[in-house]
Amino acid sequence: MYTEKTFALPSLEGITPESVAAHLGLYAGYVKNLNTLLASKETLVGGDTYALAEVTRRLAFEYDGARLHELYFMQWEGGSTPLTTGGALDAASTLAQALTKQFGSVENWEKQFRAVGMMRGIGWAILYFDNEAQMFHHAWIDQHHQGLLANADIILVLDIWEHAFVAQFGTAGRGAYIDAFFKNLNWSVMEKRFV
Ligand SMILES: [Fe+2]
Repeated sequence: MYTEKTFALPSLEGITPESVAAHLGLYAGYVKNLNTLLASKETLVGGDTYALAEVTRRLAFEYDGARLHELYFMQWEGGSTPLTTGGALDAASTLAQALTKQFGSVENWEKQFRAVGMMRGIGWAILYFDNEAQMFHHAWIDQHHQGLLANADIILVLDIWEHAFVAQFGTAGRGAYIDAFFKNLNWSVMEKRFV
């Protein structure tokens, strides 16, 4: 059984409490559906193989939907720490230095990451670090589960589902939403993931 997590979110700049509440409600649905699928899987083994296949495939959608949302909301927890300066990453941090090494500068990394976030479609923009190759990757995840990179560490996740921004920013408001997303990040969370 999975339990819905709670997040100590600060008052966010540019993202309304109503928007966050609606989003958290959807997260709760993924946790609930994940538990429903886990329970039904047990009853299907040895029975209808098509039903089992559908439930098994569906599991990745609900599981990742839950997990990615946890990673997403945690990035705003404890905001406005000394590491956060208007959304900027401390240039002296290990993460900033690694990003600079690969992308030339943190600004250039952000530009490239934002471009992934602006891709058409619904899903997630994810910054990964492949520890084996010592290399960052940007990935686009369709829905919650198609396009995940195996055995690479998730450093930053950006929700690009319409529910994350349309109600507040409108269908053409993706860029404004990404601005607000960056503004509220507590970079010490991502630094910890990376280190
Ligand atoms: Fe979401």
